[in-house]
Amino acid sequence: MNTTTTHSKQAAAIVHDREDRGNKLRQRLAAVEGRGQRTRTPSLAVVSDGEGVELVTVDGRRLVDFASGVLVTNLGHRHPLFEERYRHHLGRCPLSAYNMVTPIEVEASERLLASMAASNPKAEKILWAASGSEGIQKAIWAAMAFQPDRPILAATRHGFHGKKGLAGDVTGEASPNPNVRFVSFPMRDVGDLETYERELTALSLQFSDHIALLITEPYLGAAGSFHPPHWYHELLERWCTEHHIPLIFDEVQSCHGRTGSMYAFETYGVNPDLVVVGKGVANGIPAAAVAGRADLIDMLDYGAASDTFSATPMACAAVCATLDVFESEGIVAQCQAIAPVMRRALEELAAAFPFITAVRGEGLVYGLEMQDVATAEACVLEAYRGVNGRGVHFLGPLAERVLRVSPPLIIDEATIHEACELLHTAWSRIGS
Ligand SMILES: Cc1ncc(COP(=O)(O)O)c(C=O)c1O
Repeated sequence: MNTTTTHSKQAAAIVHDREDRGNKLRQRLAAVEGRGQRTRTPSLAVVSDGEGVELVTVDGRRLVDFASGVLVTNLGHRHPLFEERYRHHLGRCPLSAYNMVTPIEVEASERLLASMAASNPKAEKILWAASGSEGIQKAIWAAMAFQPDRPILAATRHGFHGKKGLAGDVTGEASPNPNVRFVSFPMRDVGDLETYERELTALSLQFSDHIALLITEPYLGAAGSFHPPHWYHELLERWCTEHHIPLIFDEVQSCHGRTGSMYAFETYGVNPDLVVVGKGVANGIPAAAVAGRADLIDMLDYGAASDTFSATPMACAAVCATLDVFESEGIVAQCQAIAPVMRRALEELAAAFPFITAVRGEGLVYGLEMQDVATAEACVLEAYRGVNGRGVHFLGPLAERVLRVSPPLIIDEATIHEACELLHTAWSRIGS
């Protein structure tokens, strides 16, 4: 079976054998939509249906969803209780309530804070946003306004916080913003606590009282799934407390159960001053928020953090519906119970295929590191092609050669085994 990419003046379309409908749709879209819209995924499934953890393409291919959008649809697709509660919460509300107050916004704000406050009393107030990077931007603005005489923005290296504005500035390992300073995040060679402590001490000595904030991801997602030892975040928190530096935890990806706790700050045993949530917070309806200390959040006066699409009634209804399902179906406990099954299944795959060079992760978010870029791309494609019209959906590799495994948190044991058997057969074709 062949997959090709045809290039035209404006765009390129991925083409798969025996996918008449999908190929036509990919070509039509390539003619009208810029490529920059998405990151490259060699399979580029054309999906028209989804239920539970299964996606169905327009050509009838059935795919076990190992991506959840991009860690967004944590409750899976067309979850019956989510859909019912979403409609209930939205009711007859207007779709935009800009500069009005809706009861559902009040409920969503109170409930999201309450979901954090049990384990982090600093979750006192909230600001809504329409995307993760906007939530990060608002968190940074709040911290900068709190200590305006502190120009330096500290960030842990190789984090991904979004592409826009200040979120982009604190992403990666080099910044266009001259006030950004990076400190090391444990990756392949974890090293010892003292090494990181020395680096932090050097930073605080260099800039004494000029550091406005420290932003970190709980684990490095986009950089290829690196999950730090617990002492790392405890060290960051201690250093921040000592130097009166607000700690911003970017939970855009890790919130709502991914690591086996509702929030990763619980998994890692810290109490950040500001927590930014996104993606799974509304199970697919665009929503994000920054929650944390009232004295920080209240630094932003009327208009300073307002925008058209923050806290829409749809977003707030979806946030409440998501919390309803988490509460009534024990989603976090399900994730905890299934996590060892997933880890074992992935480790078995790694044992079977020497081209898988590492399995890293926790809860229901893993990275399968492949020996090289070509193998990683081939694995995505072969997983998609699957066996007899049934396959596994991955996004294109992260950090060039890491396949992320992040299925909806409702995945069960039988589906994990089925998916991994499919992968076993599909990946046996690689190199043969
Ligand atoms: C950890 C993290 N922070 C921030 C973002 C940016 O979120 P958005 O794409 O919604 O702006 C992402 C998106 O992938 C993310 O994974």
